[in-house]
Amino acid sequence: ASVPVAVIGAGPAGLMLAHLLGRAGVETIVVDTRTRREIETTQRAGILEADAVRDLVETGVSDRILREGHEHEGTELRFGGRPHRIDFKELVGASVWLYPQTDVFTDLADARKRDGGTVHFGVKDTEVLDITTDAPRVRCTAVDGTRHEIRARFVVGADGSRSMCRDLVPEGRRTRYGKEYPFAWFGILAEAPTSAPELIYAHSEHGFALISQRTENVQRMYFQCDPNESVDAWPDDRVWETLQARVAGQDGFRLKEGPVVERTVLRFRSFVQEPMRWGSLVLAGDAAHTVPPTGARGLNLALHDVKVLSDVLLRALVDTGEAALDDYQPRALQRVWRAQNFSYWMTRLLHTVPGGTPFDMRRQIGELDNVVGTRSGRAYLAEQYTGWPTRPQH
Ligand code: DHB
Repeated sequence: ASVPVAVIGAGPAGLMLAHLLGRAGVETIVVDTRTRREIETTQRAGILEADAVRDLVETGVSDRILREGHEHEGTELRFGGRPHRIDFKELVGASVWLYPQTDVFTDLADARKRDGGTVHFGVKDTEVLDITTDAPRVRCTAVDGTRHEIRARFVVGADGSRSMCRDLVPEGRRTRYGKEYPFAWFGILAEAPTSAPELIYAHSEHGFALISQRTENVQRMYFQCDPNESVDAWPDDRVWETLQARVAGQDGFRLKEGPVVERTVLRFRSFVQEPMRWGSLVLAGDAAHTVPPTGARGLNLALHDVKVLSDVLLRALVDTGEAALDDYQPRALQRVWRAQNFSYWMTRLLHTVPGGTPFDMRRQIGELDNVVGTRSGRAYLAEQYTGWPTRPQH
């Protein structure tokens, strides 16, 4: 087959790019090593910026999000056993939407099907060839064993945080920036009623916890753990005891408990690879950069990348040629580093460092007091959390 753009990775970045190009009449073929079912059942992020929601709705991906998503006009920072609300709406006139990434994926995959787009799930032995020419190729084996060769003008690597595409940029020509953290998240799904109307980001002397939601009867929660923690060591009682201790306070707040139906240890890091383009290969989303999950930036950043990328690819294919691609990295990267800073800052603000001293703990409370104690501190958090508007900033 021959298409203008071949896309490696059928996550939200790859599928949204294919959707945006498809709307402009540009055909794509998207391939992914995972099956559709694997992607749909892997728990991922939960928070979308209002701008991302608007793009999904206005470009005709789905309006399910408006019916089943939940608009949140603020969030809670909990520390020293007290709740502190950050009121996004009042501070910066913005809000975010709770709508699971798995649903974003389903909507995008359905939209591709509806619009006649080609997506091959569950492929094997993917190879990307000739990226330093203007006729790159992708080869893979489909689930039924057929060998495919896709000839394209550009190949987009949207293959996530364990990207193989980013390794195709020669070692001597790429720079990798990164940071590891001495903790991970223990993520659970629980069959329990909602404990609070909005998300709770909790700092405590026992470590960080995040209380999120999925539906009226299913909740998503996380707590800071050792990166080498084993899920087998965590029966329901121990999970709840840990979570309750991290949100406990003078107000007597308690989480509503229920059976824990899923548990996963999620390691994370901060990472950026530059350049985001090499010859006919362009990287987007987690393939080019990953952020720690605190602050909910990753999915939003990936969607921003492909919005910019669809624009430059259309220009490159339709009029100005390859030179249009030179605009991609500068336009995408500023937001990437802003998000890197925010995600790093939120992570350091809320997690306890193993082996930390009482000084570290008190300093952190001082910083948290600085954030919630002034309008400008709260507004700073609100601006970053809700995403930097693509509309003019003042
Ligand atoms: C969720 C995940 C996050 O990393 C976050 O900051 C907020 C919510 C979630 O899975 O719901």
